[in-house]
Amino acid sequence: MSNTILVGSQWGDEGKGKIIDVLTGKVDIVVRSQGGNNAGHTIVSGLEKYVLHLIPSGILRKGKVCVIGNGVVIDPIALVGEIEGLRKRGIKVNKNLLISDCAHLVLPYHRAIDERREELKGKNKIGTTKRGIGPAYGDKAARTGLRMADLIRPEVFAEKLKLRMKENNAVLKGLGGKPINGTKVLADYVAAAKVLKPFVVNTVAYLHKAIEAKKEILFEGAQGTFLDIDHGTYPFVTSSNTTSGGACTGSGVAPNRIDTVLGVVKAYTTRVGEGPLPTEDDALGEMLHGMGREFGATTGRARRCGWFDAVATRYATMVNGVDRLAITNLDGLDGVPEIKICIGYKIDGKGAVLETPPTDAGELARCRPVYTSMPGWLTPTDQISKYKELPAKARRYAETLAKMSGAKLAIVSVGPGREQTICL
Ligand code: GDP
Ligand code: IMO
Ligand code: MG
Repeated sequence: MSNTILVGSQWGDEGKGKIIDVLTGKVDIVVRSQGGNNAGHTIVSGLEKYVLHLIPSGILRKGKVCVIGNGVVIDPIALVGEIEGLRKRGIKVNKNLLISDCAHLVLPYHRAIDERREELKGKNKIGTTKRGIGPAYGDKAARTGLRMADLIRPEVFAEKLKLRMKENNAVLKGLGGKPINGTKVLADYVAAAKVLKPFVVNTVAYLHKAIEAKKEILFEGAQGTFLDIDHGTYPFVTSSNTTSGGACTGSGVAPNRIDTVLGVVKAYTTRVGEGPLPTEDDALGEMLHGMGREFGATTGRARRCGWFDAVATRYATMVNGVDRLAITNLDGLDGVPEIKICIGYKIDGKGAVLETPPTDAGELARCRPVYTSMPGWLTPTDQISKYKELPAKARRYAETLAKMSGAKLAIVSVGPGREQTICL
């Protein structure tokens, strides 16, 4: 395997963590380059289930180096909690984790502002994870953010924090929120800095040396294409570039060092949070929720569910340059007699068929899907490990999704476990 960017080609939670865990066996380094602990990547290894939020999914495998790149926003308290949680479960976290000195910090006022803004928006809320992601990236763009390099220098941090506390408490007051105690923030963050300091380095220089030494890198995308701040269903998006370009800016690895882009999709569609989802189907959602599936890995919220949207995934292939496709959760459709696939949209169900999703969220919300359908295979697939052993109708379905999405079918996943993966 060469240097690969893995991205979600839908609205997040495509099963990226599971696919990364499978691919990590073959790479040397796993890099997170955007997002924060809004992500929840589930990995099932034997009887153990892990949900990773900030630490790259490679941490579970021995001998792999995990890098949290400059483009990630880090809540130091959450990160320390994640490190400690893994250590308690016998997972080694020491020299195998590197954190960029340029990564921005999420502070308690970011979380409080995120929450207040959502409350004030009422029914127009985004449905954020309330992890402070938007306000933290906002500060980064406004050049008022604090970074890991500040955190590990207590005097510098104390000085900068003081000014930021003053401004953000005024903002919070304006939003009708309660001010935050800066003394406590300082004490908590200085304590977290002590734990994190040994991990903090210039990860850009590290990655370049690794590339020179012919190490193979897997970039672990978080969220999904339609949550991208530029290409997603704005404003119902997250605040980072979740598409493949974000892996380069968020790690300092240049585009010409990347060999391939792997898109991950579910065999259907899910979305957690507000915003348009053209193929949303309550009956499909009820079925999946009834099976105990599709509850958020970070917030536990029930995910909205719908049929596979080939209009959206084709667009995702374009934006990300997806070469190969991994389809997960095929087994979720094992009991469905007739499976729909969205092949076009009609605004308000009328007029010309659109083959490209409207970029305006309001217009996308008016889109009614044009469906084709395929017969279901009505056979359990979760024990199958060879592609040719999948029911012919399941193979046809997977191949159709790949063809419509414009990428080569590379992986089919039929269960959450490592072994429930069919590589083509
Ligand atoms: P991520 O954010 O993209 O890593 O995805 P999440 O971990 O948030 O959600 C994906 C869910 O689907 C998790 O519960 C996974 O364990 C589960 N999963 C992934 N692939 C499969 C699959 O092929 N079949 C089944 N049944 N579950 C899967
Ligand atoms: P992974 O990496 C699914 C969604 C939130 C909300 C919007 C903005 O596990 O696929 P934010 O807290 O980022 O400001 O919320 O983005 N969201 C996700 N949805 N999977 C994720 O990550 C998500 N991270 C954020 O639900 O709609
Ligand atoms: Mg997730």
